Amino acid sequence: MEYPKGNRLAGRIMRLKKFFGIFLSLIMVFPFAACDVFKEGGKTSVLWVSQTMETVSDGDETQITFVASDNKFGGYAESGVSGMSDEDTFLSVDLKATAEIPVKVEFVYGSVGDQTVVYSQINIGTEYENYAFRTGNVLSNKSLNKIRLFPSYNAAGGYGILYVKNLTYNDYYLNKFFEVKTVASQDAGENSGNGSGQGDQSGNQGGSGEQQPVVPVTATYLYEKYSQYFKIGMCAGDSDYRNYGDIDGHYNSFTCENEMKLYTIGNNEGQYDYSKADNMLRYMINRGKKIRGHALIWYNGAPQWLTGCRDKQQLLNKIDTYCYNVVKHFKDSFGDSVYCWDVVNEAINDGNGTYRDCFYGVAGIDFIKTAFRAARRADPNAKLFYNDYNMDDRTKRNAVINMLRELINDGVPIDGVGMQAHYAIQGGGVNYETSINNVESAINAFENLAEETGHPLEIHITELDIRNHGNNNAALAQKYKELFEVFRRHSNSITCVTTWGICDAYSWLDNSQGYSGKAYPFLFDEGHNKKAAFDAVFNF
Ligand code: G3I
Repeated sequence: MEYPKGNRLAGRIMRLKKFFGIFLSLIMVFPFAACDVFKEGGKTSVLWVSQTMETVSDGDETQITFVASDNKFGGYAESGVSGMSDEDTFLSVDLKATAEIPVKVEFVYGSVGDQTVVYSQINIGTEYENYAFRTGNVLSNKSLNKIRLFPSYNAAGGYGILYVKNLTYNDYYLNKFFEVKTVASQDAGENSGNGSGQGDQSGNQGGSGEQQPVVPVTATYLYEKYSQYFKIGMCAGDSDYRNYGDIDGHYNSFTCENEMKLYTIGNNEGQYDYSKADNMLRYMINRGKKIRGHALIWYNGAPQWLTGCRDKQQLLNKIDTYCYNVVKHFKDSFGDSVYCWDVVNEAINDGNGTYRDCFYGVAGIDFIKTAFRAARRADPNAKLFYNDYNMDDRTKRNAVINMLRELINDGVPIDGVGMQAHYAIQGGGVNYETSINNVESAINAFENLAEETGHPLEIHITELDIRNHGNNNAALAQKYKELFEVFRRHSNSITCVTTWGICDAYSWLDNSQGYSGKAYPFLFDEGHNKKAAFDAVFNF
């Protein structure tokens, strides 16, 4: 993908970063093979992304070496490439200290090209009130310590070293491309990572010989496998989102199926019902996921107080107020965990590519511009998307592209386009099949629009499911394989792929749109078991 003129630098750095990142991670692996395996604290093993993390025992000193893999240089400010968002690359570990212990934090410099990268801080605290943590601070044994280690700006290489001891890894998950290496074992009397040289100040001699509890830690997840490509997302509703604890660990992005929609939150003007969404977001954020907000303005189910308004300015004011208040609520409640929004959903008709009449009939394209501007005012960090389906249909796609071009040319704050990706394979009464070439043509078209306008556009695959009423596992696996080959090929523009559900136990496709029976559209079956489609996506 050729970056727009103004961002060729970004493209070169991005390619250099990818090479550097991969090169560094290879280097970082080899020395480990030569290092002594860390003896203290029982069985340990090397763990790094996309490999199996067997066990990491408490009492370990682990050197966390990370190569930022997801540092989407944080967007394109007027003056060119700006620093990356620190939300994109961090390690998040819930640590329960068995004693109050000091932590030694060292940062080293990495670099990409002539840019020196500084890792400035480690944050410990709850998800929302992070504070800087320096060498010598103490990890509490009274509460769970959430450690987030992230670079201060576009980190593309180098490593931060985090020495911890006497800790029980409660729930250790990697959010991005990290490599964790044990270090040659050290006697308890030596510097035990707390910088004092007097052994562990907590009086705990560490390595005292008694067998430390071994905490089996997570196996490898889909999102780890794709950490150098894009986020992997799932969707669920308030009736079932807690049902998937055994498989939702594969995902680092989440979308509420209906609970953040206009008809759920804003059915009555001036009254906002966030109850279902707030519960779901708290649960999923605590399980390490970022949130796609879906969807602020959509004709489907839109309430009368909006659809009944026939005055353009009044309608624009109502849309502005609603979008601002809703985005602000989630920003104030969950910080940057709501990392993007489907601001407007499905404004274009199928077939002829005209605008749907709802809202457009009264306010023209201004209803779309107003919604995006209000969302940006409420949350300057969230990425803002236009979301629609059947983008693999040329007529509809071209209509969407014309609309996006008008928004871009008018300076509307839009960051990306959501391709819903409701696809199908033949069988079980379905007599058509989604063309992979048409899907890639759509992706190319959006990439070309970004190049033509010099305005970067991320692409999210927002609602992927594959109608498969014949329950043909082999054909489904092949279709997912081919789709994810395309998605990986375009991972410079595709930054998230979400399935519109998680397993075959439930899909909106079941008995819908004139098709009877279950649709079997996902990577996991009704019993949450991996299907051949999972293997096709995971093994590449
Ligand atoms: O919650 C009520 C329940 O109280 C009532 O008894 C029941 C019977 O009518 O309806 C329930 O609400 C349903 C809701 O899903 C929750 O199950 C609505 O009728 C039904 O229309 C709604 O369907 C959702 C649909 O969007 C319309 O909002 C589907 O679950 C959801 O998967 C689907 O998702 C959309 C995306 O948001 C946008 N892209 C297309 C995609 C598929 O249509």
